[in-house]
Formats: sequence, structure tokens, C-alpha cells
Amino acid sequence: MRLGDIVLRNRLVTSSSLLGYGVSNTPLLPYGMSPISLFVPLAEFGAVTTRTLTVEPREGHFTTRDDWSLPELPGLLRRYGTVLRGTDGGWINAFGWCNVGIDAYLRDYYPRTRDQRVIISLGGFSAEEFVTLVDRVNAVVPVGDIAAVELNVSCHNVNFDFSTILQDVLDEAVPRSNHPVILKLSPDNDYLRNAQQAAKAGVSALTAINTVKALRLDPRTGTPLLANRYGGLSGRAIKPIGLRVVSELREAGVTLPIIATGGIRTVDDCREYFWAGADAVSLGSATWLASYPGYALAPVRALHVRRVLRAIRRHGARPVRGGPAR
Ligand SMILES: Cc1cc2nc3c(=O)[nH]c(=O)nc-3n(C[C@H](O)[C@H](O)[C@H](O)COP(=O)(O)O)c2cc1C
Repeated sequence: MRLGDIVLRNRLVTSSSLLGYGVSNTPLLPYGMSPISLFVPLAEFGAVTTRTLTVEPREGHFTTRDDWSLPELPGLLRRYGTVLRGTDGGWINAFGWCNVGIDAYLRDYYPRTRDQRVIISLGGFSAEEFVTLVDRVNAVVPVGDIAAVELNVSCHNVNFDFSTILQDVLDEAVPRSNHPVILKLSPDNDYLRNAQQAAKAGVSALTAINTVKALRLDPRTGTPLLANRYGGLSGRAIKPIGLRVVSELREAGVTLPIIATGGIRTVDDCREYFWAGADAVSLGSATWLASYPGYALAPVRALHVRRVLRAIRRHGARPVRGGPAR
């Protein structure tokens, strides 16, 4: 199916980062890949969106190491605790764009995901960095081989004001891309204005929404739960916010295709987003996050993800009976 010039396999994609780079480098401990994803055929998604990639490798607030051995697992889990915490109805995270860098991704991971439809997420701190990222993707990926590149100018936990560069990024990076460009919107920014800027600049689609800026403190000490203090809230808790953003974009007359992400877990969640005005829907936290004991149930949770995937594939534009014809 098509969203403008973006070709997807169906209307259910996965949100940036939740399935890492689409493949793991370590067979025994699938670092960067969720236990749930191991039981879901990733090639059946409309597309899989990569973790956000930067020009250079970045530790962020976490680590780029992916050679953890089993005895090191407790140390790895402790580290996770400083960048990712469960909270009421969702999760807050502040990984800070930890990633291997665009060159390593294109060399070591992308060639092993050729069975998947891929959206490559790109992140930078200046228009020049976005131009470099687009050029590197252009140089390696033939036209048509990926669904799109997605520009992440809406992340909270890298502590940067993207509004200062957005117009330059749109003016300089979008026209250079050989691939369709998606702009990812933040519910905490002026998303109506950003969507209009995107439409003028030739962006092909919008992803709404990125995580919501959030904070949790230890109630006894006041210490932030995350090392970065602030993080991004995802999961069930943000679904009504995502629905509000998609609906307001449509009410404001935005006609670009919208890929909705934010707390989607069930077919009914997808249906709600389609009613609000989305053209495609995206699974984020639902494909990865669980309590540690919950990971023992990964195969069962994967069955649930597969059910949603089957329903969207079967019903195409109308995910369930009575859904809006879009
Ligand atoms: C652990 C984690 C890491 C994320 N990393 C990225 C990222 O690198 N780039 C990005 O654009 N969004 C990132 N996101 C945001 C998701 O792609 C998605 O937009 C958001 O979580 C809302 O969907 P959900 O509520 O279904 O998770 C991340 C979310 C989580 C939970």
C-alpha cells in the first residue's frame, strides 16, 4: 500500500528504536532486540523503523556496547535501570540516542534486513548533520529499497531545542533525499506549525507522536529515577495524547499522510487512531517493553502482536468491521 510516495507492506509499522536495527549482532543474547520481537516475523510489518542513527556513534546516556556476556547481564540490567523505568500505564526512557552511527548501521545491519521493509530514522543537531545523514543513506541505498527516512527532530532526552534548526533541516535535507522523507512530531512542540512547515518543504508523511516529556522522582529522596532527570513517556498513558495530536492535525487542515504511534497495543487502539485521522499505525512500546519477569511471557506477548498484525494485514485500510474507509 502507498502513503503518498511511501510504499509500505501494510498499514502497521513499528516505531523507531523499539526493534533496534531490525537484527541483532549477538546470537545468544539478542542485544538491542526485544525478546518479544524474536517471536514475530518482522518482514510482515508494513515497515520496521530503526533506532535513530547519528553521523558518529553515540553512547548517549547508555552504551553502544553489544558484546555483553551472560555473566555481565546484571550489570547491563542495572544500566537499563538508569535509562528506562516503568511508570503508571507506561514507560519513561532517556537513552539519549545511543546508537552505532550511520556508517556502521549501513555496513553491518542494513544488509541483513533486506527481507524487511525499512524506515531509517535519522537524528542530528544541525542542518549539516541531517544533510550528511541523508547523503550517506543516498550513497548506499538504491531508490525504492527502503520505505523512507524519518527525521527525528522531536526527542527530549538529548536535551536540545530542535525548533532552532527545524526550518533549516527541512530546507536543506529534504530536497537532497533520494528517498521519501517522514517528519516525526513531538506533542510538546508546536506540531501544527511543524506539520505545515513539513508540507511546504516536500515532506511525504508525518509520524505522530514521539514520547511526551516526563519526570519521575524517588518519593523518599527526590532523586530522579532516570540519570538524565527528564525522559520521554511512552505506552498506554500517552494514547489519548497521540489521538489528540492526530485529530488536531486533521482539524487544522493538514493533508499529509499520518503514521500514528503512541500507546497502541490492540486492534481497537489502531481503530481509534484511524478514526482520528491516521493513515497507518505503529507499534512502539508494545513490541518491547515488559517487566523483567514479563519477558518470560515474550512468546505469549508476541502472539498478541501477531494477532494485531494479522488483523491489519487482513483488513487493509479498514482494520475491523465498521472502521472508517480511508
Ligand atoms: C525505549 C524507547 C526508545 C525510543 N527511541 C526512539 C528513537 O531513537 N527515535 C525516535 O524517533 N523515537 C524513539 N522512541 C519513541 C517511539 O518511537 C514512539 O514514538 C513512542 O514510544 C510512542 O509510541 P508507544 O507509546 O507505542 O511506545 C523511543 C521509545 C522508547 C520507549
